[in-house]
Amino acid sequence: MKTTKMGGFSSKVGAIAAVAGSAIGLGNIWRFPYITGNNGGATFLFIYLICIALVGFPVMIAAFIIGRKTKKNTVGAFKELAPKKPWFLCGWVGMFSAVVTLGFYSVVAGWSLKYIYLSIMNSFQTGVDFETMFVSFSSSGYDAVSWQLLFMALTAGVVIMGVKDGIEKMSKILMPILVILLVVLAGNAITLSGASEGLTFLFNPDLSAVSGKAILIALGHAFFTLSLGMGTMITYGSYIRDEDSLTKTAVQVIIADTAVALLAGVVIFPAAFTYSVEVTSGAGFVFMALPAIFSEMFAGQFLSILFFFLLAIAALTSSISMLEVPVAFLEQELKIKRKWSVIGISLLSGVVGVLCSLSNGAVDLTLFGKSLMDGAAYLTASILLPSVGLLTIIFMGYFIKKDVIKQQLKIKNELFFSIFMFVAKVVAPVATFIVLCFSVLGVI
Ligand code: PHE
Repeated sequence: MKTTKMGGFSSKVGAIAAVAGSAIGLGNIWRFPYITGNNGGATFLFIYLICIALVGFPVMIAAFIIGRKTKKNTVGAFKELAPKKPWFLCGWVGMFSAVVTLGFYSVVAGWSLKYIYLSIMNSFQTGVDFETMFVSFSSSGYDAVSWQLLFMALTAGVVIMGVKDGIEKMSKILMPILVILLVVLAGNAITLSGASEGLTFLFNPDLSAVSGKAILIALGHAFFTLSLGMGTMITYGSYIRDEDSLTKTAVQVIIADTAVALLAGVVIFPAAFTYSVEVTSGAGFVFMALPAIFSEMFAGQFLSILFFFLLAIAALTSSISMLEVPVAFLEQELKIKRKWSVIGISLLSGVVGVLCSLSNGAVDLTLFGKSLMDGAAYLTASILLPSVGLLTIIFMGYFIKKDVIKQQLKIKNELFFSIFMFVAKVVAPVATFIVLCFSVLGVI
């Protein structure tokens, strides 16, 4: 079998754990709260949930089918299904996004590592100005870059040493602990004085506030949080055993991913309103609000060490899935040894990451009028991921034989299949296309 070298998933649970490990990460706990804060709260959440259901779900299924049918990397898969056609370029753009995303992702993951260290040093004390603490660290240059590179090295080490399986096994235990911890923190959050304001902000939508920009960001985040549009789910799909259900895997992972994001929101917004952290603080939002909770909470130091440790592990199971995309390509298509592919791609992403990290205040580097880090996130999450995701779903809907889709999905109910195909062929592509056009034309 073609997959054995890289190790196909050995069980149903293994596949779900790995796919969930990729999906659940900084996107849920760091990015979701801050973009929700920046874009008006509940209304944004509402749009985001629609995007997940109507676009995220069918695109994930499409990626799984392309991967599992061919059992190949993202470029190889398109080449096999559409020989001599330019569809394989989707694979290339996805890989480009993976390399760039891994760069800025490791910056934030590096922040989590630093915050484990700060927790151990008991730095989160009442009265400390957590905003200043975050800003001076993230704009420090050298300090932030060191933690970012440490994380990058961890990611590369895991993939080279083949302890990926170990990580998957470990995350089967650790991720549920992260969820339990979030539930405990949420329980604490709803007793805070700013709880009702925070929860209203998160859950009480004002539909008149829907803006085009919010729709674009919500759609982009649906792709980001579900690891879509980068080839990750095609690559991981190629490792899923033929007998496992793609639909069930997708549904379970999407529910888990959304639940973690919502829990993170329930923890963070009450804290923000209680401790006067601006919900529009941007990328530092979570790193300012959470230490404030821990500084006041019973067993706060222990819980903060545990929390940031689990956050770093969640980030690691996502970052290895980004690295896997170009590595699987180099290994399968160009027959480059896994070790050298990992080193090469890590260096490339490492450079992107260093530049992103420096752009947070140490050096003046910009893209699209934003810091390089925000610009890189905008380019990938808001433009490239939805574009590749759009092409992926069009490819499945119009270029893969119906029988192949049916056989991959093991669907017997005709009505269910027709509804799914309608969403996949019409609803999801049209919605994504409209949003993308507006954003590219700069109308929103
Ligand atoms: N889904 C991951 C997260 O939410 C990020 C990711 C994006 C991972 C794309 C792989 C590919 O943190």
